Amino acid sequence: MGRKPKINQNQPKKNTNNSESFKKADNKIVAQKQPKEITRLRGMRDILPDEYRYGDYVVSVAERICRAYGFAKTEIPALEQVSLYERSTGKQTDVVSKEMYAFVDKDNERVALRPEATPGLVRSYIEHGLFNLPAQPVRLLWTGSLFRREKPQAGRYRQFSQVDVEMFGEASPVADAQLITMGYLILKELGIAAAVQINSIGDAADRDEYAKKLVEYFKDRKVRVLLSVDDKKRLLKNPLRVLDSKDEGTQKALAGAPQMIDHISDEARQHFVKVLEYLDEFDIPYTLNPFLVRGLDYYNRTVFEFCPEGEDGSSQGTLIGGGRYDGLVEFMGGRPTPALGWALGVDRVVLKLKEKAPQSAGPAMDAPDIFLAQLGDAAKRKAMVFFEELRVKGYRVAQNFVKDNLKTQLEQANKLGVKLTLILGQKEIMDNTILIRDMESGMQEVFDFAKVYEEIDKRLK
Ligand code: HAM
Repeated sequence: MGRKPKINQNQPKKNTNNSESFKKADNKIVAQKQPKEITRLRGMRDILPDEYRYGDYVVSVAERICRAYGFAKTEIPALEQVSLYERSTGKQTDVVSKEMYAFVDKDNERVALRPEATPGLVRSYIEHGLFNLPAQPVRLLWTGSLFRREKPQAGRYRQFSQVDVEMFGEASPVADAQLITMGYLILKELGIAAAVQINSIGDAADRDEYAKKLVEYFKDRKVRVLLSVDDKKRLLKNPLRVLDSKDEGTQKALAGAPQMIDHISDEARQHFVKVLEYLDEFDIPYTLNPFLVRGLDYYNRTVFEFCPEGEDGSSQGTLIGGGRYDGLVEFMGGRPTPALGWALGVDRVVLKLKEKAPQSAGPAMDAPDIFLAQLGDAAKRKAMVFFEELRVKGYRVAQNFVKDNLKTQLEQANKLGVKLTLILGQKEIMDNTILIRDMESGMQEVFDFAKVYEEIDKRLK
């Protein structure tokens, strides 16, 4: 065995030369001698218990509301064929062309870590023939991690979590409004003030026509010079993406640009008007944003994003993003199936929650009511059995059986803020009794062990 590699306990640095310690020889990866620090990769995070509870809380609220609206949990693989994302998310999108973790595996297959869940859920819907299910439309709910090799910054990570909902087989604008309502209700219950921005990008043919109009508009040199270098490239590859550019020059250039909403078909417009009417009916506040197009290829008609109130929807701010994708299921080999969905970025919602209430935000650790302390070997053994009995009966109990010192255990009980500490020592074992200490008054009394439940129930009431 060689020397152990060091573990860096600080923030990860940009991974500069780790790969230099490895060399390829005879197709085997061989570690060279000098040990390198092992750190988290850039943009990847460990989420420690104190932080994790926020995410847990967000997911539990979101999932509860989605389930109430008929969505059922489902799982998909983290690894899929590259072509799944190329065909659905879109080869030219930033997500696929720049950010996807894609590689050739040992079977020579091009695989990718999922950068979003929608394509996998569409594949799963088609592959398992879910259009045959008796309950239609099909409502899927998914929660998990995704991977995008983006430039890391606050609220933008290379591994992040989403709660994602997808509805298959429903063309009615009620579905659009209902999905948006669910997102609104989730953020409202979490106490996060967010505004819905909404737009209609029409159907595929409208989009193509409009893209031509936009390209035409930018042929005018006076507006073209205002475009950033990146947006000039976008105009060639994916003209609609220029619309949601954050570049100041581009935004100026867009001031006189033709608006998508004026170039969509009558059917698409009627659909959109209905969605807005339902939102009014449900009392969901929204803002029309003619420049909202979303960065994924599959959308048509309604697209929307929830941004924290007062923020303009810069890409790190968006909390929920989604829309319709009526053509995707068929494009991926399924039957023609109208569909729509959204994804909530758990990490970003957590950031907002913590901003609001840094220490005390709703998701408290499961606070125990009772601490079970023990002193001596026989007492420890009895306490371990008793603890399990209490747990199964539904009492919230804490313990620290690895400690022998009673003072340490009482200090811990104090810190946890429990109401009662139950103490088993050698004497209590001999007499078949138990000590109950009221942590507020500091009074302690001995009880017959057989009466323990009666007494704790009385005191916890
Ligand atoms: P998206 O806009 O790419 O849409 O992502 C949805 C949400 O995921 C964003 O609004 C944001 O909160 C979060 N998110 C995205 N990238 C990151 C990141 N690098 N770090 C942290 N959070 C991030 C989709 O993924 C679509 N699949 C949504 C959808 C479902 N459309 C229809 N169905």
